[in-house]
Amino acid sequence: MPDVHRRLFLATGIAAGGTLAVPGLSAAGAGTAALRYPFHLGVASGDPRPDRLVLWTRLATAPLDLDGGMGDKNILVEWQLATDEKFANIAASGNAVAVPGEGHSIHAEPRGLSPGTEYFYRFKAGEHISPVGRTRTAPAAGSAPGSLTFAFASCQHFEEGWYHAHRFIAEDEPDLVLFLGDYMYENNSGRGNLVRGYVEFDEVNRLVEHRLRYAQHRLDPDLKAAHAAAPWLPVFDDHELENNWWGVNFDQPERKQPAFQAFWENMPLPRSMKPENSAIPLYRTITWGTLARFHMLDTRQYRWKQAPNNNNTNCGELRRTDRTLIGDAQEKWLLDSLTARDSGWDFLGQQVFFAQRDGDGRASTCDVSEDAWDGYPANRERIVRGWIDRKVRNPVVLTGDVHRHWASDLRLNYHDHDSPVVGTELVTTSITSRGSTTPPDNLDENPHLRYIGHQRGYVRARVTPDQLTAEFMGVSSVLVRDPAQVELSVVKRFHVADGLPGLQPG
Ligand SMILES: [Fe+2]
Repeated sequence: MPDVHRRLFLATGIAAGGTLAVPGLSAAGAGTAALRYPFHLGVASGDPRPDRLVLWTRLATAPLDLDGGMGDKNILVEWQLATDEKFANIAASGNAVAVPGEGHSIHAEPRGLSPGTEYFYRFKAGEHISPVGRTRTAPAAGSAPGSLTFAFASCQHFEEGWYHAHRFIAEDEPDLVLFLGDYMYENNSGRGNLVRGYVEFDEVNRLVEHRLRYAQHRLDPDLKAAHAAAPWLPVFDDHELENNWWGVNFDQPERKQPAFQAFWENMPLPRSMKPENSAIPLYRTITWGTLARFHMLDTRQYRWKQAPNNNNTNCGELRRTDRTLIGDAQEKWLLDSLTARDSGWDFLGQQVFFAQRDGDGRASTCDVSEDAWDGYPANRERIVRGWIDRKVRNPVVLTGDVHRHWASDLRLNYHDHDSPVVGTELVTTSITSRGSTTPPDNLDENPHLRYIGHQRGYVRARVTPDQLTAEFMGVSSVLVRDPAQVELSVVKRFHVADGLPGLQPG
């Protein structure tokens, strides 16, 4: 394939080996002259806006070497964006410099693009041409697109399965892919029956460790295909750093900085989101004309520590009215974002379970997961009241984390089973990470929880002004490697009608 891409590149402008004068790049010439093929980690795009988006690649000539095989050289990388797969109609091109301090990642941000347009993109370094990625810009502000398709997914423990779900996402060619966290796990599976293992290495530098872990994931052909098929909106959850980590007071900045840095380096995120001082600006809104908005939340960096909950009759701390999961600034930002009422559908793309899951169904106890929104009920209520007060037309929460498909009607008071439905939650299962072997048994106590599915997979969604259709997709196995032996099926389908919150059977 590289030969094909090279011919295309030669035919359409940037001659292989051509010289570009870039000030301050004296090392580039020497670096690219003997460069081996550097595009093993694939290409990606993300955060589409009407006039711009992010094009990503990360150079590595030897991806599982400590330095990716790249040494300390700066490398000049050219990029092209075209409206056709053969790159006959170039819409934008430019160059960027891959530097060691950014893991030789590229985050190119072409601007002045046409809204609502499909594009193809590729990179060139030295003599080498990358695979081609497909992407698209968001529709123009104020325009009224007739439909939108997106996939959302989470939790892809590398050791626990093959990424068949990503291959199917790539085949769907959705307009957008939301990745809702646990892109990688800091810990070994520890569960046996693994399909593949992490590369072990003697290295104490956490940034190097994280880079290698991401590189190992990005060598997976199915994951590379999903990245190359559509623009992504990634957010992290806990395992990109540590299980159930929490908040501003998490007292290990020396661990946050490398985890955030490696996340940014390996995701198609804009340069404006590059982490500094052990913080990364992760929450943002992506707007799809007047049809939909995606409010991508950060449920880790600003949360209070989980309430101790080993005695579920001692609920005082958990129910403190000032407890926060997303922090005051993000809460204000979210409610302000929801105030501008020009959107048909408002999706909250986030990590942890939003609806109440009460083990015994009794209001006097708090038999709940303290890491989920149930551990921060006052914050949840402020947000739900906020969207009710603002007359948000169609609020839908999209969630990962729990390694099962779930679908829920949202209420203000879950203990009153007749209280009105005020929103909808769709939870995607994991790409590979295993769920607990014990199915939750509290559905009778929680009638708003409408569905639980146990397969691995993802959720496929289609949005029109009239309705949202969510298809819970299941893969038949993540333990079988042979794609020919793995099937994808719609295990459940729900609709949500415009202006009528809650689930309707599909
Ligand atoms: Fe997970």
